[in-house]
Amino acid sequence: MPVVSAKEILDDANKNIYAVGAFNINNMEFLQAIFRAADAEKSPIIIAISEGAMKYAGADMLVSMTRTMSNNFPRIPVAIHLDHGSSLNAVMAAIKAGFTSVMIDASHFQYEENLKMTKQVVSLCHPIGISVEAELGRLQGVEDNISVAERDAVLVNPEEARDFVASSGIDFLAPAIGTSHGAFKFKGEPKLDFDRLKKVKKYTGIPLVLHGASSVPEASSKKFEEFGGNLKGAKGVPFDVLKDAVKFGINKVNTDTDLRISFLARVRESIYTDASQIDPRKIFGPARDYVVDVIRERMKVLGSSGRC
Ligand code: G3H
Ligand code: 13P
Ligand code: ZN
Repeated sequence: MPVVSAKEILDDANKNIYAVGAFNINNMEFLQAIFRAADAEKSPIIIAISEGAMKYAGADMLVSMTRTMSNNFPRIPVAIHLDHGSSLNAVMAAIKAGFTSVMIDASHFQYEENLKMTKQVVSLCHPIGISVEAELGRLQGVEDNISVAERDAVLVNPEEARDFVASSGIDFLAPAIGTSHGAFKFKGEPKLDFDRLKKVKKYTGIPLVLHGASSVPEASSKKFEEFGGNLKGAKGVPFDVLKDAVKFGINKVNTDTDLRISFLARVRESIYTDASQIDPRKIFGPARDYVVDVIRERMKVLGSSGRC
């Protein structure tokens, strides 16, 4: 299957109640790990590329590597998606480089400005078959003991989501329901606002996206610390919470931190246990293999295994 828009992948996930991982890449090893996991699990994938990744490796480089991998694994549906695009310029750079899907993240602006920018992106992308994601609410953890008003100020407003989706024409929406990026998501219980999520799904019906969805797997963080790292207080979204999120309407699960921690945990192990190793392939190779297993486990949890 050729590289497709993320809409194509996510519409099926929405219809059949499962989620597809959107995995971030910055280099070849992560990309290979994602494709190898997808091949083993028979899972569709979304390759997420941030503006930071474009700056680090070059958008053309990342897109051509992804297209090459896609040619090597023709059975796997794959979308090339701009993660957290912050401006029209970033979206245009992604289109020029050959992305098939974009996120415009104007969630830090007021509602009207967010809607205006999102509409511009939709009118740029839809005529050329590129799917569009937008975000509502702010991505940050919310403590149990905060007031209703404070909670409402951070998390998605379901009625607003209904109007936003109807007037923007976006293909999928990222509603803030209590996750945050990185390895330190929760101080207490890892809880998400599922009542809000259910309402957003009911009011919009479109595929929904969970950002900040990494689980911080125990084996990876243990290894990271065993070999000299520090991840004190790290906590992710547990698998059972992820499964419920999928049940209540999440179809795209953004994952970067888990890959970062796992890769570097294994790099740390190699450096520690093989101190005279000077061949980077002997260090990055096992780290890449380790990430494959982490991604495969995630595909099973999300229900994307066996879908292609
Ligand atoms: O949500 C952001 C992703 O983890 C990408 O992060 O901007 O450091 O590339 P980055
Ligand atoms: P994590 O930091 O939880 O992996 O989230 C990644 C993300 O949301 C990318 O957009
Ligand atoms: Zn994100």
